[in-house]
Amino acid sequence: MGTMRAVVIEGAGGPDALTVAERPLPAKVNAEFLVKVVAAGVNPIDAKTRSGKGVAASLAYPAILGNEFSGIVVESPYEAHPIKPGDEVYGITPVPRSAGSYAEYVTASALHLTRKPAALSHVEAAGVPLAALTAWGMVVEIAKAHEGQRILIHAGAGGVGHFAVQFAQYFGAYVIATASTRNVGWLRELGAAEVVDHSVDRFEDAVSNVDVVIDLVGNTADETGTRSLRVLRPGGLLINAPTGSWPSLIDDAAAAGVRATTFKYTPDGSTLAVVSRLLQSGDVRVYVDQVFDLDDAAAAHTALETGHTRGKIVLKVCDG
Ligand SMILES: NC(=O)c1ccc[n+]([C@@H]2O[C@H](COP(=O)([O-])OP(=O)(O)OC[C@H]3O[C@@H](n4cnc5c(N)ncnc54)[C@H](OP(=O)(O)O)[C@@H]3O)[C@@H](O)[C@H]2O)c1
Repeated sequence: MGTMRAVVIEGAGGPDALTVAERPLPAKVNAEFLVKVVAAGVNPIDAKTRSGKGVAASLAYPAILGNEFSGIVVESPYEAHPIKPGDEVYGITPVPRSAGSYAEYVTASALHLTRKPAALSHVEAAGVPLAALTAWGMVVEIAKAHEGQRILIHAGAGGVGHFAVQFAQYFGAYVIATASTRNVGWLRELGAAEVVDHSVDRFEDAVSNVDVVIDLVGNTADETGTRSLRVLRPGGLLINAPTGSWPSLIDDAAAAGVRATTFKYTPDGSTLAVVSRLLQSGDVRVYVDQVFDLDDAAAAHTALETGHTRGKIVLKVCDG
């Protein structure tokens, strides 16, 4: 069996726990693809897992972090499979995973990948799956974004948020987003009708009678989740993604006369193929804020953990 370069963690720690090492190639089983990774997306869940939180308890160390990838098929599940060696694909491995995508090769089932949109580079495509599938699930599948609906999206400038703003606008909703000063104009360009600068204003002073809150901050900062209950119309719905930040979410919502749910994305290649069409047509765009080499994964995590990434951070693994 051959080896590959990968970003490995031997145990929980800070960004410097991420080191590059030679690891065996991942074993392709049953109907999986073996994919040569050109670029891998970086997400808050990776940093949480690295530091021993999130899904870390289910990791077997040494572990390779990362779920998103864009790359080139090396081996297909079987000879007649329509996606062949040499084809460009992107996708997302399920969490938890001890042989993740911060590596030169990854395995993934056909359920978790699809063809890369030709209009996107591998670096752009690697930033799509986790954030876009999360935004799609919250905005399209749960909120059922539609004309006449008022949707408030917290952290509209982040990885998930910038897709959420675009999906909600695409399906005709009236979009209000929160962001800091430097991102206000950008979110308007992406389709937000109103942007509240959370570094200057309290959003509950500016926003009311909202049908749905896409809550990508929760109570991780400034009691954003709890304060959001006040801006919903009676019976409105809050959908919360940082699920660990607000244990009393359901009870608090009921007491306020509104509905609430947590949300967890599904690593679904079929839905990603739908998103691909919006990316290929240019109706939706991915914004990659910073690109780091595989060797600089620690710096990528340090940047992510500032909490102020615009769009996505991506690791470039090879030239493709
Ligand atoms: N449950 C799930 O399935 C799931 C899936 C994906 C993500 N998540 C969670 O959802 C959250 C967002 O993920 P992400 O990938 O979008 O993160 P991210 O890209 O790191 O988010 C960064 C953004 O957050 C904004 N922000 C920071 N503090 C804010 C505040 N107080 N109010 C409004 N915006 C604020 C920043 O904008 P400014 O610089 O303009 O402030 C920045 O653009 C994370 O907690 C992540 O773990 C959950």
